[in-house]
Amino acid sequence: MKNKLEQLRQMQAEARLGGGEERIKKQHAKGKLTARERVELLLDDDTFEEIGQLVQHRSTDFGMENQKIYGDGVVTGYGKVNGRLVYVFSQDFTVFGGSLSETHAEKICKIMDLAMENGAPLIGLNDSGGARIQEGVKSLGGYADIFFRNTIASGVIPQLSAIMGPCAGGAVYSPAITDFIIMVEKTSYMFVTGPNVVKTVTNEVVSSEELGGAHTHASKSGVTHVTAINDYDCIVKLKKLLSYIPQNATEKVPDLPFEFGSELRPALNDLVPEEAQKPYDMKHVILELVDEDSFFEIHEEFAENIVVGFARMGGKSIGIIANQPLYLAGVLDVDSSRKAARFVRFCDSFNIPMLVLVDVPGFLPGTDQEWNGIIVNGAKLLYAFSDATVPTVTVITRKAYGGAYDVMNSKHIGADLNFAWPSAEIAVMGAKGASEIIFKKEIASAEDPEKALAEKEALYAEKFAHPYLATERGFIDEVIEPAQTRRKLIRGFYMLENKKTNRPKRKHGNIPL
Ligand code: HXC
Repeated sequence: MKNKLEQLRQMQAEARLGGGEERIKKQHAKGKLTARERVELLLDDDTFEEIGQLVQHRSTDFGMENQKIYGDGVVTGYGKVNGRLVYVFSQDFTVFGGSLSETHAEKICKIMDLAMENGAPLIGLNDSGGARIQEGVKSLGGYADIFFRNTIASGVIPQLSAIMGPCAGGAVYSPAITDFIIMVEKTSYMFVTGPNVVKTVTNEVVSSEELGGAHTHASKSGVTHVTAINDYDCIVKLKKLLSYIPQNATEKVPDLPFEFGSELRPALNDLVPEEAQKPYDMKHVILELVDEDSFFEIHEEFAENIVVGFARMGGKSIGIIANQPLYLAGVLDVDSSRKAARFVRFCDSFNIPMLVLVDVPGFLPGTDQEWNGIIVNGAKLLYAFSDATVPTVTVITRKAYGGAYDVMNSKHIGADLNFAWPSAEIAVMGAKGASEIIFKKEIASAEDPEKALAEKEALYAEKFAHPYLATERGFIDEVIEPAQTRRKLIRGFYMLENKKTNRPKRKHGNIPL
């Protein structure tokens, strides 16, 4: 037995070394942690249990039979993050560049199955050169096995992907199906085809960083939801993100302790400028409303005309969707609509109530928007809100014009509580545009058309640019003092805690993708 124990310990020690000390040094020299260091950092102390540590590949081509390394380039298992169970895989770049072989894929699939059967989040720490080239179609099949499970698990358990190194070819599609992607700046990139292929096919010259680095995907494509400055920051952000999310779709997020005080926020009374065209920062409103230090923004650099993110409200985890008047006057366009729709779908899948803050002048006009499908993309957001069954509360701070009034979680599409500040303007369109249309003839025949337009604008504003017509009809439940908003929201979300809705049975809806 002694010898056998010794043999086991030696094999385990070898497995822990992955591709060997030299390769670990190389990994560190790039500013990256190793696969195991990342897992240790992510999980609570002494909670990691590894599965499949001694797995080896079965490949025999290209001399691979002589190159076997325990674990085959991925560390898989389970453990706890802040006391809650999670399943994790962490690709080991020191072993064949973290490339995905048939057995590497089998290890990932095994923990995906366990995560689904036991209802806990799956976290993927990706650092891989893609399909193991020596294995051909077997590694492609392995990827497809993962993609399939990602899809089946979608909306069942939360799936988070950290991109902590290269992620090329089909490998990007597994993270893309998961709920959130966090990319590490400078050391990670994602693309379907790399710079060399791009040059051959399109003659474009582009660097990996420019084509698919963290900044590109955070600001241009919206592929990544969050960026991190290094591996440590990435793990801290993963843990923070997890804290707002339940274990699975049948559970709720545990509340944090909270004691109701006055909860008045007088600063909010002065936040919206008197002049309707003047911008203000909706993030100031959010920070005043939510529990201290609790706002975690998603897609911070992408489609900044809408703000989405998680926060705590009276200790409860909530999702926030808010127009941002500071960018493009808070207008809805293609990118902001799909950004918000995706976030709404996530919150609704995982029982996270939503707060919607509205200051929107409408949809962005123009050929660019129309040709890029603002119709179908705006409809995504409309569909997402309409389809949501979690508690939702809407607060109109200023403008709620046209179709955007309907789309931004109006009463008509299912909001549970609708508040408006006295500064709210709810109408088919702004006073100027409306007057130019309905008083066209009168203005044209007036002695001083400019003066006539100004008069008509004032008339229109007096009639429609306030929240009281909507309140009269019950479309708004209450016009409230901004300072009182936080207390109304906390009480509202507590009141809605056990909300249940019945919808007709169906296989699944057909969201306008
Ligand atoms: C086998 C691989 C590998 C791969 C890297 N390695 N990628 N081995 N299959 N896909 C090995 C290298 O041979 C090397 O081994 C070690 O990993 C480290 O790689 P380096 O090239 O030295 O590292 P670096 O310079 O940092 O470059 C990393 C890299 C590059 C950018 C990822 O290795 C690369 O371009 N790899 C190929 C990427 C790729 O095209 N993959 C296939 C994508 S298609 P040694 O022993 O020399 O240290 C795909 C299809 C999926 O994934 C389809 C699903 C639908």
